[in-house]
Amino acid sequence: MMLTAESVDRIREAATKYPQVRSAILPALTIAYRQIGHLNEDIYDEIAEVLSVPSGEIAEAASFYTMFPKKPVGKYLIQVCHNISCALLGAESLIAYLEQKLGVQVGETTPDNLFTIVRVECLGSCATAPMMQINHDYYENLTRKRVDAIIEQLRSESRAGGKQ
Ligand code: FES
Repeated sequence: MMLTAESVDRIREAATKYPQVRSAILPALTIAYRQIGHLNEDIYDEIAEVLSVPSGEIAEAASFYTMFPKKPVGKYLIQVCHNISCALLGAESLIAYLEQKLGVQVGETTPDNLFTIVRVECLGSCATAPMMQINHDYYENLTRKRVDAIIEQLRSESRAGGKQ
């Protein structure tokens, strides 16, 4: 069992808020992701059992949402938007800069297990392009200088035992 009793309770509680239990699938995926840091087939099975819906439906829903990684990732999941507005304002160069700075390619995790870089579709913050999401926070109007500051801040936060 990967889900904690607390997560199971929260998923059950979420299910009570909707007339259709299927509507609780997205909240359930979010709860599981926030606890575990990624999703996989075992987690879909556990959510399916809690919600009493077929596991395939959970997996199908999860496949729509790129913000849920499907394998273990670093402490900080850097999701860089590469859609049109961000692309026009330098997303590719930003991704290349991050890859060079962190020494890993998109889809990979740094050896210290701190950072994973992924590309994602539009995160709905096009007016502040280029942007990225790290864990639950948005970082917008990015420049190389700002990326340097963000990475340094996260490194020191991690050294100090900071947030997940
Ligand atoms: S195009 Fe990047 S947030 Fe919309």
